[in-house]
Amino acid sequence: MTTNAVHPTAVTPSPGAPPPLDIRADFPILARRIGGRPLVYLDSAATSQKPASVLAAMDEYYRAHNANVHRGVYTLAQEATEMFEGARERAASFCGGTTRTTIFTRNATEAINLVAYAWGRDNVGPGDAVLITQMEHHSNIVPWQLLCAERGARLRYLDVSDEGRLSLEQLEDELSRGDVKLVAVAHLSNVLGTINPIAEITTRVRRAGAVSLIDGSQAVPQLPVDVATLGADFYVWTGHKALGPTGIGVLHGHEEILEDMRPFLGGGDMIRTVDFETSTWNDLPWKFEAGTSMIAEAVGLAAALDYLQALGMDHVRAHERELTRLALELLGAIPGVRVIGLPDSDERGGVVSFAVEGMHPHDVAELVNRENVCIRAGHHCAQPLMRRLGVPSTARASIGPYNVASDIEALADAVRRAREVFGL
Ligand SMILES: Cc1ncc(COP(=O)(O)O)c(C=O)c1O
Repeated sequence: MTTNAVHPTAVTPSPGAPPPLDIRADFPILARRIGGRPLVYLDSAATSQKPASVLAAMDEYYRAHNANVHRGVYTLAQEATEMFEGARERAASFCGGTTRTTIFTRNATEAINLVAYAWGRDNVGPGDAVLITQMEHHSNIVPWQLLCAERGARLRYLDVSDEGRLSLEQLEDELSRGDVKLVAVAHLSNVLGTINPIAEITTRVRRAGAVSLIDGSQAVPQLPVDVATLGADFYVWTGHKALGPTGIGVLHGHEEILEDMRPFLGGGDMIRTVDFETSTWNDLPWKFEAGTSMIAEAVGLAAALDYLQALGMDHVRAHERELTRLALELLGAIPGVRVIGLPDSDERGGVVSFAVEGMHPHDVAELVNRENVCIRAGHHCAQPLMRRLGVPSTARASIGPYNVASDIEALADAVRRAREVFGL
């Protein structure tokens, strides 16, 4: 791994900032050239690129250890089981959780649906409320809409301020109404980049006797996360945004709450006994893992977490904060460009949404793509937030640990040239 090397950069580092990361060489896809030009990948909020160590771990698993887990007594099966359960230990310890309460799902979306189904159906009823925020991803909206419609409960939203913040006073007001059973909030917004004050939110939620679910899909890849300190009853994230493969997500849950919950999906592995009429359930965490698990994906995720741990999440955060600062500065200096969200990179992650006056976001993304700058345009699976912001869509650049200052400069240059194409 090529960590901690100093990359030539135009950023004036913040006082005390560690040297920028230069790890591009660890990511095979970033060696690709399209039309003779290098790739500038700025869509990590959609999915991250994968280091060679992740690809190698999955390849090695299939070449040398592939077998189904938890069942066989033969050597391959034992190895596969050890690798799979070892990956769970890695996922748990990476986020300060325990193996018993760390459940593998397909992705963050499935983890939220698991809670909405297996906890929500038994704990949310007519006259109750579920409280979410206007900055949620559809994955943290639609499961609650379905639950509330089925159970006759109400779905209410915390507002997002013009700068992109939630209000703790409004949270207190909502909780004081006495009907809120669950509060679901993104740790780090995939559109605004806002880092929400999770520990303060979960403390208030617990004090009100409600349960909290935190969507850490964008936070786990970008910030040091300790679920014990954050105090969430449920904390979910998704492997493919954290340098891991697609097809694996994680749910950390409060042990007593998980024990009390009914299973989510029924089938193999999640049972202890099955009779003709009824069944009994396996222990945690397997009670929530029906069917053959995503074994190779777990192995890949463990390799990704080892890689991130070797970089150090404090270092990843500091590196991405500096690049975010540069992006806010360079994009903000382009005439007609409006950067959305908080102006201070200390309060936000590496997600920078912006609007270019006189241009549709899709035209911006299309024109910068001619220079191999990969950004996203659209509603970013956050249509209620788009309505709140009064825009149909935005352009969004998002940063990973492999980005360097020249990527941000390439983005700003490409946006300038895109404006010129439009005669702006
Ligand atoms: C904040 C947030 N939550 C949830 C998700 C859903 O992740 P997945 O599709 O991996 O379940 C995303 C993906 O973009 C996200 O950004």
